[in-house]
Amino acid sequence: MEIKEFLINKFKDIFHRDPVYFAFAPGRTNLIGEHLDYNNCPVFPFAIDLRISACFSCRDDNVIRIVDADGIHGERTFEAVDSVAPYPDGDWGNYPKAAVQGIISDGKIKAPYRGFDAVIYSTVPAAGGMSSSSAFVVLSSLLFSTANGISYPKMELSALTAAAERYVGTQGGGMDQTASINGMAGKVLKIGFSPLSCTPYPVPEGVSFVVADTLIKARKSKEALTYYNSKPIECRLAAAVLRRKLPPYLKKPLTVGFLGDLSPEKTGLTEAEIDRAVFSVLKETEYTYEEIAAVLETDVETVQKEYCLMADGTPLPQPENGFALAARTRHVLTEWRRVDRCAAAMERGDAETVGRLMNESHASCRDNGDFSCPELNALTEIARKAGALGSRMTGAGRGGCTVSLVRNGDVEAFTDRIRSEYYDRYLKETHPEIGEEAKKNAVFTVYPSDGASVFPLSREN
Ligand code: GLA
Repeated sequence: MEIKEFLINKFKDIFHRDPVYFAFAPGRTNLIGEHLDYNNCPVFPFAIDLRISACFSCRDDNVIRIVDADGIHGERTFEAVDSVAPYPDGDWGNYPKAAVQGIISDGKIKAPYRGFDAVIYSTVPAAGGMSSSSAFVVLSSLLFSTANGISYPKMELSALTAAAERYVGTQGGGMDQTASINGMAGKVLKIGFSPLSCTPYPVPEGVSFVVADTLIKARKSKEALTYYNSKPIECRLAAAVLRRKLPPYLKKPLTVGFLGDLSPEKTGLTEAEIDRAVFSVLKETEYTYEEIAAVLETDVETVQKEYCLMADGTPLPQPENGFALAARTRHVLTEWRRVDRCAAAMERGDAETVGRLMNESHASCRDNGDFSCPELNALTEIARKAGALGSRMTGAGRGGCTVSLVRNGDVEAFTDRIRSEYYDRYLKETHPEIGEEAKKNAVFTVYPSDGASVFPLSREN
């Protein structure tokens, strides 16, 4: 049965009436451009054919009731009010709450707000680095805006949902929401953030994107939140140090707000000159809070308050080895250039170059970004030996999925080798606790797909 029919029937069973709308929001795979979005540097993802879908109907009151169709996660019911109190950290109900709060705070609708009844079903692997959470925020934003009679232009909704998702405590950029909303069948999207823009690129002939899940869960809650947020914080600290120290090296007046300001256009320097200047300012070894405060000519408390606060208001604890400002900046500058080169290679249909850039990206994510983990490294290495043109981690990292570029004719043999060498050998040895069931559908081809949409259901349904 098609997902839509399944959800219509579920909705009728649960709510004893007909649903009025069907909506979906896709997950995404990032081809290249990792941990760049929050620096205002371009990224290169695509929406995928795995989605979270919903059937829903508006209500006459402000109650929002969302039921998980497969029964695993139960249901959540809350009221749409000016200030929506969150569920405990890590609760899935915080994703729809984030969307509802985001739209209410945007101010286009006024209380009393209208709620909705919805039944949802997701085919995006949870905590797999494919943005199941952003897809859920985007979907919820479509449901709540529809229930309240408004619709946002795509770019506006992209920015709104990106900001709204910070409600759950992540300090992410806008890549996932923008990809989910603006996806186009057959295209990879070059997303720029200053200003927000989206340019579709064709996929070279004869190649497929194969995703493989490490089966190490990339959860964005608790310690994982601290891991993830430490990355934008390190980049903000690097930008602060550069804002103060870089100007004498520049050929144009520039206040460095983000690492994404370090372009040849804004600095008046070539790429090589930018690198020379930046890495003569940033020391290679890690910084302590005290060292950063000294460079910024302030005290530790001020540094923590300005750059390092987590959602609960506490400052990020200093990482064990200190803040790796030079390494993170090196990742950002090199990855940004790889995104531009990758887009140009896609345009000329040059799959080999795309693959090579993906491999270089993974190496930088591992060595400069510290976003990887042994399983992602093993899986990408196996993928390269199994014939991928390129293979890299995709998403926040420290678990989740890899994406590999594979010639169409090689996909079957490639997939078999990933099964035997990663799941049946490597994972069995290193993580015997991971069961066979999880491994069954862990490697699959993804297709660049259309973005989120909402449709009225016809009466015949
Ligand atoms: C997560 C975040 C994104 C982005 C990626 C890393 O998916 O939600 O904003 O930072 O990690 O590229």
